[in-house]
Amino acid sequence: MTATVAILAPQVADQIAAGEVVERPASVVKELVENALDAGARAVRVEIEDGGKSLIRVSDDGSGMSRPDAELALSRHATSKIRDAADLIGVGTFGFRGEALPAIASVSRFELETSPDGRTGTRVRTAGGKRDQTDDVVRQQGTTVTIRGLFFNTPARRKFLRAQATETRAVVEALTVLALTRPDVAFTLTSDDRPLIDVRPASAPIDRVQALWGRGLADTFMAVAHREGPLEVRGFVQRPAQAKPAGRKGYVFVRGRPIRDPFILRAAEAGYRSTIAPGDRPSLLLFLDLPGDAVDVNVHPSKLEVRFRDKFFVEKVVEDAVRRALGPLEAAMPLGARESGLGTWDVPVGSGTPLDLLTSDSRAHNPQSLTPLLQVFDTYILFQTDSSVAIIDQHSAHERVLYERAMRQLTGDGAPAQRLLLPLTLELTPPELDAVDAHRELLGRVGYEVEPFSGRAVIVHTAPNPHPRFDAARCLGELVADLAGGRFGGWANRLERFAATYACRAAIKAGQRLDADEMRELVVRLLAATLPAHDVHGRPTIVQLPKDELERRFGRA
Ligand SMILES: Nc1ncnc2c1ncn2[C@@H]1O[C@H](COP(=O)(O)OP(=O)(O)OP(=O)(O)O)[C@@H](O)[C@H]1O
Ligand SMILES: [Mg+2]
Repeated sequence: MTATVAILAPQVADQIAAGEVVERPASVVKELVENALDAGARAVRVEIEDGGKSLIRVSDDGSGMSRPDAELALSRHATSKIRDAADLIGVGTFGFRGEALPAIASVSRFELETSPDGRTGTRVRTAGGKRDQTDDVVRQQGTTVTIRGLFFNTPARRKFLRAQATETRAVVEALTVLALTRPDVAFTLTSDDRPLIDVRPASAPIDRVQALWGRGLADTFMAVAHREGPLEVRGFVQRPAQAKPAGRKGYVFVRGRPIRDPFILRAAEAGYRSTIAPGDRPSLLLFLDLPGDAVDVNVHPSKLEVRFRDKFFVEKVVEDAVRRALGPLEAAMPLGARESGLGTWDVPVGSGTPLDLLTSDSRAHNPQSLTPLLQVFDTYILFQTDSSVAIIDQHSAHERVLYERAMRQLTGDGAPAQRLLLPLTLELTPPELDAVDAHRELLGRVGYEVEPFSGRAVIVHTAPNPHPRFDAARCLGELVADLAGGRFGGWANRLERFAATYACRAAIKAGQRLDADEMRELVVRLLAATLPAHDVHGRPTIVQLPKDELERRFGRA
């Protein structure tokens, strides 16, 4: 027998394409809403029934289509968006393959109603991709696409659809992502007539975040705005102290398109290094913008992946962007009402957000401008800034200061150590002795010169002197116990782990009374730190009670 080579019938080709583009109701919603946005819609309405399994309807007030265009839109590779392969570079719309509508139509009962002018209108109906009927209709400008019986003619695939609640969740997620890309467009979603999403046009992206997820989450975000070379990174990242191990939201958009890129999310998390506990996953919303020729968006059937020309550059800039966002003292936790400044994209790119407590000038040169400091509960230091009451946790703050200093010592020249007049001896357990052995060099760099003595004892010739009340023996004992017990085991980098352990043990404790000079010294050093607002366990070092909030509470505002 000879095999016959034949061109696939168009419907078969469409059904095969549908396998790539149309997986479930959520993917239909995604394609239809992207078309609506490409058509310039200001408002998009989505209705589903039974999780989208019996009905999906997407209505928009966009450009609409003329009758010939409406008929053509259902033919494979009919697209108004590109004409040749060169146009693919830097394509600025969601759609470019002219594949979605015919693919969806081939596996459903499909109805398209559209009008380009609000006077003349067209309705095209197909079933399983076969043209049924084309009529004139009267309707307002825009387009409504209705899908009934998704996969009615491909039962094997219909079987793979999940429970109604699962499919509904996926639709909510798909529309949420699109709503994040376009805060200027109104979106509604109803599921069996129940409203699930209803967001009005917003001028500020954070308002869209708040409308979708509530103020509770929106208030935990800080703005990111950073540019390096051709790449601009904007968005929102969660304050370290509010990151949790589970349930985080992580979204990456490239040139306005949602993409899945675990490497970019991981790079952003790397920016949190030393400010969150291992295992904490901060929520992240990152919008990357770069020239079209630096990225290829056409590598994935549902356009969920992109290929960067220089992936490592992109990851590094994302990490830097997050790091910078965490730097200013504005990253400190506000008490009460949300601070202004997050409401717009108007944060100057690259310079970080303006400092609230002190200008960078006064941080570096003029620490005398600090108002009097007050210690309360032998643990917190209060002072006044231009616009808030700042409250510092003396232990956390000192830990941050010592961590950054230890990192410099570990990677640089080491610390000035004090030779002890009477060397200390410490009795250690066998695991602790091993830990001393493994860390002798690092201990030396922070100022502890430790040698084996006899049996299980070690002798300590020099010690660091991070503050006047420092108990060198106790700190070393705790430090060695932590190193042996793997208390900071979640930290990937050995130097960072050591520095954090040392900082935690060497820092001033809560409950220690400090005099005015000691407080001043601590505050000045904290304000000069790179990441002053966060300790090394994912807690804040400083919280601010904004003056606005006081005024609100006392009825002055
Ligand atoms: N809601 C709409 N409003 C106006 N025109 C639309 C709408 N939906 C589709 N079209 C027209 O139909 C064409 C085909 O749509 P389809 O989604 O199949 O392809 P595409 O968006 O061009 O590319 P892709 O397959 O990547 O989505 C579009 O290029 C557009 O011209
Ligand atoms: Mg499309």
